Amino acid sequence: MIGVFDSGLGGLTVLRSLANRFPDVTFCYLGDHANVPYGNRPSDTIVEFSRRGVEALFARGARLVMLGCNTATAVAARRLQQSWLPGSGWTGYNVLGIVAPTVEAATQTPWAVTTPQYPQKFNSDLIAVFGTTRTITSGVYREEIRKRCPKVEVLQQICAHLAGAIEDEASRDELDGLVKEGVTALLEQTKGGVPDRAILGCTHFPLVDDLFRTHLPPATRILSQPQLVADSLEDYLTRHPHYLGGFHPQPRNLTMLTTGDASEISSRARIFWPDVPQFEAVEIGLLPGARNKG
Ligand code: DGL
Repeated sequence: MIGVFDSGLGGLTVLRSLANRFPDVTFCYLGDHANVPYGNRPSDTIVEFSRRGVEALFARGARLVMLGCNTATAVAARRLQQSWLPGSGWTGYNVLGIVAPTVEAATQTPWAVTTPQYPQKFNSDLIAVFGTTRTITSGVYREEIRKRCPKVEVLQQICAHLAGAIEDEASRDELDGLVKEGVTALLEQTKGGVPDRAILGCTHFPLVDDLFRTHLPPATRILSQPQLVADSLEDYLTRHPHYLGGFHPQPRNLTMLTTGDASEISSRARIFWPDVPQFEAVEIGLLPGARNKG
């Protein structure tokens, strides 16, 4: 079983892509609706919320958890992988994030390669990145792209209220206004240049990708993060098939968990994914004593 963790509904864009790509794999999704949005929270809080979410998914049988959230990935992935996991007792379990596949696609460079190669070292494209406050201030996209392609210009734009507005089911007009504001602010930074590629660096944003398409210049290609994450996971699971093990507590392929109100979240989720199974409410942080670490 594979776990997918997000602060709220945005990770559904990732889960949906993964569920389509791997129809025989069991997934467990956890949305931390009690604490959404994460994007303007302090880093330590995001790390702690993400750790609790990951651990709750491990405890329910996922050996591998995908942080289906750019904010959690940008702020917490490395800390969880390097500082928490090795001493946590969860031997044989792993956490992945969604920044790496996106940077790989943006730079056409494998994540393991961290220095400029030919022809990447001559790549002088302009890449636009939109994200939450915490994702953008982490600088993770700029840093990881420029390590591999130092001549690429990375322009970043905080869209501080967009994920929250999507979660709150703001009207299309309101969402359109927020997207337009973000794109306009980014284009002001280009001084007339046209971004070659745009990264919608928040898993909520594909839910309004049509609005980004409308406001970005036609020549700007929008990278589809959910699809890139599925491509990357396919490659990862080919190399690490044992992560498909673990126990499957329920006889179905998709288990949907929320720290919020299950019936309210279930009906909101259907706006974004009509066939999404019903959510169940869970309390995370109160972990069951019986961990399966086999
Ligand atoms: N979906 C998340 C992301 O990708 C975060 C949204 C939020 O909780 O602020 O950044």
